[in-house]
Amino acid sequence: MLTFDHVHFYYKKGQTIINDVNFTIQAGEFVSIVGANGSGKSTVAKLIDGLLLPKKGTVKFQQLDTTNPDELMKIHQQVGFVFQNPEDQFITTTVMDEVLFGLQNIRVPREEMRGRVDTALRAVQMEEYLEAMPHQLSGGQKQRVAIAAILAMQPKMIIFDEATSMLDPQGRKQVLSIMHELHDQGMTIIHITHHMEEVLSAERILLIHEGHLEFDGDPFVFFETMSVEKYQLQLPFAVRLRKTLQLDPPFTVNWKEGIRSQWSIN
Ligand SMILES: Nc1ncnc2c1ncn2[C@@H]1O[C@H](COP(=O)(O)OP(=O)(O)OP(=O)(O)O)[C@@H](O)[C@H]1O
Ligand SMILES: [Mg+2]
Repeated sequence: MLTFDHVHFYYKKGQTIINDVNFTIQAGEFVSIVGANGSGKSTVAKLIDGLLLPKKGTVKFQQLDTTNPDELMKIHQQVGFVFQNPEDQFITTTVMDEVLFGLQNIRVPREEMRGRVDTALRAVQMEEYLEAMPHQLSGGQKQRVAIAAILAMQPKMIIFDEATSMLDPQGRKQVLSIMHELHDQGMTIIHITHHMEEVLSAERILLIHEGHLEFDGDPFVFFETMSVEKYQLQLPFAVRLRKTLQLDPPFTVNWKEGIRSQWSIN
């Protein structure tokens, strides 16, 4: 569905920000991207939906190439982006207008709009706030409205770039559970985060280190086999506990499911 093929990127000549990155993400996957501050995660996210274009190599979303302007339009319609700070995403004055705004941009027929707005707001449990002003909502509610605005456009993939990092534990939990609900319904989810507990509930983890793809695989294998401190990351509490108590074995289905159900935030 999404392919990075020998992708290189820099902002200024002489820099190397993304260095020969290769991966393929299939439709319906839930992938976490992790790495230290400045390692290139947001740059990768922007390369995915063509906000940035590779200097070398190709980025393709369902065979559409981000460097082709006609194809890029189609990519924008299918890939949604939720940012860290919900404030940055609001343009209008009511929740309803906020969700309508994107629909007008992609020229959804007028008679279809209201239905899409209602469905999207219901999906994030914000249907009662239709007339509310986005700026007066709590952080978690704002983020849910931002997600609704994207859902209304019926994308195939949503990238969450640290979308939970400014929220309190309750807000984080709600947004994360929406992400998992969408995933259960077949949406492809890319979740960029510094919260390792959240990573446990992903199906796959990509570690970006100094612009390289340093690890691509199962989060449990990642935490058990990599020295995460080297990448300014922390082990999730459950994995630390397992290591401290020397419980074994780490890779069994029961162990994974036990951690997922008890310890991952989801
Ligand atoms: N618009 C820009 N112009 C120039 N350099 C940039 C720009 N945006 C990012 N960079 C640089 O590119 C590198 C990667 O940045 P990026 O934002 O992708 O990192 P990140 O992994 O998302 O970090 P964080 O965890 O802090 O969000 C950093 O060195 C950053 O300073
Ligand atoms: Mg970032």
